[in-house]
Amino acid sequence: APKILLDCDTGVDDAITLLYLASLVKAGEAELVAVGTVHGNVAPEVGALNTLRVLERAGLPDVPVAVGAVRPMAQDVDYAPDWHGADGLGDTNLPAPAGRPVEISAPEQIIRLGRERPGELTLVAVGPLTNLAIALLLEPSLPTMFREVVVMGGAFDHQGNVTSHAEANIWHDPEAAELVLSAGWPVTLVPLDATHPTALDGVWLDRLAEADSDLARFAARILEFYTAAYTASLGTRGVVVHDALAAMLAVDPSLGEYAERPVRVELRGERTRGTTLWDRRSYADEGDRPVVKVAVGSDVSAFQERLLAALL
Ligand code: BDR
Ligand code: CA
Repeated sequence: APKILLDCDTGVDDAITLLYLASLVKAGEAELVAVGTVHGNVAPEVGALNTLRVLERAGLPDVPVAVGAVRPMAQDVDYAPDWHGADGLGDTNLPAPAGRPVEISAPEQIIRLGRERPGELTLVAVGPLTNLAIALLLEPSLPTMFREVVVMGGAFDHQGNVTSHAEANIWHDPEAAELVLSAGWPVTLVPLDATHPTALDGVWLDRLAEADSDLARFAARILEFYTAAYTASLGTRGVVVHDALAAMLAVDPSLGEYAERPVRVELRGERTRGTTLWDRRSYADEGDRPVVKVAVGSDVSAFQERLLAALL
């Protein structure tokens, strides 16, 4: 069973991802070793409290949660209240969690766990990449310490979701993303090209709404606000739970289809800062640039069924 260190900005789809991972833990199909939070959908302190709220609901109150970077490396911080609510959980204003974040920071936690369990852990990052970048700067051997790094981020042929070309997790800290994608560790990138086709529709949402369990009611409640925002943007009832696809592909890569390409992050474009670019040429021109495994598609019905089953 894969041993996962999750870095996130909880966030509604991050919260659903935590519920998904918790169900795998209960089934003995994954281990959730620790969680770190980063600025992004909300401030990292808020994201950590949300993470604790969700883990406590899911019966995993003992997973360590560390707070990470409060802002990107080279630009101002920017949250996403229009999608995730001001509280990050769809303005559900849930009571405070019982637990508290651990004393060390999220980048320190990444380094500590990498050193303690070299080659064992899968790092799944579903927020901006600032914590991973800081950890890379502090511990140059970090790339040898993880089994794999799976990142939800980027957009290649798909339009961006912050600007025309840029996806949120990359756009929130492009310099950090460039560090992570060029570090030379085995990276799988799960961009909007792969996540958007997995949009959950009205039928899926009704099945969740009709389920008779506390967990399903909790999931439905936190999804409401985010679903309304997606429904307005898609023009049809539905919602995209991006982060859960990255987690699912980390656990079961066979559900994805991949392209292997050198990937760069645009740092200085006039209209394209924060855009991910893959080399479109068929020959390898970039020499020492590490190749990234990019998810370009997935088994959509398997994703939707497994996610629903995890929430019931
Ligand atoms: C990503 O941005 C965030 O709003 C979501 O949580 C997800 O990680 C999608 O672009
Ligand atoms: Ca996220």
